[in-house]
Amino acid sequence: MPTSKSESIIIVGAGVFGLSTALELKQRGYSDITVLDRYTPPAVDGSSVDISRIIRIDYADPLYCKMAAEAYQGWKTEYADHYYESGFALLSEDANNDWIAKSAATVKANGGTVEDLPDATQLLKSYPNIQSNLSGLNGYLNRRGGWADAAGSIQKLASRCSVEGISIITGPRGTVLSLLQEGSRVVGVNVLSGGTIRASQVILSTGAWTNRLLNVAHAASSSGQPVGFIQLTQEEARALENTPVMINMSTGIFCFPPTPGSNILKLARHGYGYANETTTSNDGNRTISSPKLQSSNAQTGYIPDDADDGLRDGLRRFFPKFANRPWSNRRLCWYTDTPKGDFIIDDHPSLKGLFVATGGAGHGFKFLPVLGNYIADCFEGKASKDLREKWRLLPSPGDSKEYNMAGDGSRAGPPLRKLSDLEKSKL
Ligand SMILES: *[C@@H]1O[C@H](CO)[C@@H](O)[C@H](O)[C@H]1NC(C)=O
Ligand SMILES: *[C@@H]1O[C@H](CO)[C@@H](O)[C@H](O)[C@H]1NC(C)=O
Ligand SMILES: *[C@@H]1O[C@H](CO)[C@@H](O)[C@H](O)[C@H]1NC(C)=O
Repeated sequence: MPTSKSESIIIVGAGVFGLSTALELKQRGYSDITVLDRYTPPAVDGSSVDISRIIRIDYADPLYCKMAAEAYQGWKTEYADHYYESGFALLSEDANNDWIAKSAATVKANGGTVEDLPDATQLLKSYPNIQSNLSGLNGYLNRRGGWADAAGSIQKLASRCSVEGISIITGPRGTVLSLLQEGSRVVGVNVLSGGTIRASQVILSTGAWTNRLLNVAHAASSSGQPVGFIQLTQEEARALENTPVMINMSTGIFCFPPTPGSNILKLARHGYGYANETTTSNDGNRTISSPKLQSSNAQTGYIPDDADDGLRDGLRRFFPKFANRPWSNRRLCWYTDTPKGDFIIDDHPSLKGLFVATGGAGHGFKFLPVLGNYIADCFEGKASKDLREKWRLLPSPGDSKEYNMAGDGSRAGPPLRKLSDLEKSKL
């Protein structure tokens, strides 16, 4: 039975998945929508926050390339005040990086253009302010791409939700501890402040926290990815003006140009990350990897020593002039990894009244302008069979196997590592 437009809907999670879904469903006429989150969006320790996210149409997979090209139109128009078209360069020391080659082909097949860089030092012709020694690297440049102010665009999306009459509840009453079930039907959620919030339909857009509520260990797992920030002076930032977003596909390290006004450089690693093993008693006693629930994961500024070394090495190579500058801030950004990097957007296979929209796998944010549309189509059963299949949530086999969540082949760097107890105590 499809959800009728007057029924109550709770969306858990006010990141890009939850908020874009809320707005789209409201615009399709669903009248009673409440979004719950631990923090006011942009949630401080979510993966839809801080100063920047890459906006690219570059994908090996034709579906995401097409979706990203649609989203790109939104960044150029509706969200133009948060989008910076710096260009995006994909680089590798490997002469035949498979993902880069596929991505270039997919972009071209989708009507886009790329500038091949058999020798990456050619990038200096367009961007003379690049500090990095690019010799020995190759790849391509896409001028249609750059970065978006993540916190700013989420704030805009959240205020559009409020204006449309969507309630956003945060704090202890917005912190969901477990699902409220009656038999095989989900009828609401239990919240930290005590008590429950009931609804006809619950949508989980809980990102890295999803496994706390629901056993989806076969479909998704959380990994912390290191991010570092460097404060520049205005003059130093000016010397880096007109530089592109760059990713070194040999290391997974990527960097952004300094933020206008605040002059902050950011580096991060699109890698396999770190697992934080913890237990949950929801849906059986299970060991999962998840960031903590009841306080911010972005507070301590701790990242493991080897993660710091990796970022520092990336800093030295991308911005040699700032190689020894201390970080102004560091954190782990919690990805929701899936086996092939596909999102999970589906009715729960056995629990009625429950829909799941998560599994960003470190590449969801750029879809902000269009993601809700795709999710609402799946929710209403209007999406194509191919999409439903791609984003399917299969039933849990209920085993305790460790599934490989390596993603779509775009990552690099050291393999996934479990944090030690000492490291966990510092997070
Ligand atoms: C860049 O690195 C190469 C070795 O990879 C070296 O031969 C060259 O001298 C370096 N260029 C500059 C400008 O430092
Ligand atoms: C990591 O897991 C431990 C349990 O092993 C938990 O106490 C801690 O809050 C978690 N830390 C983070 C940052 O998620
Ligand atoms: C990219 O990674 C390769 C492999 O580690 C390294 O040799 C090269 O210096 C890196 N270049 C940049 C600009 O990060």
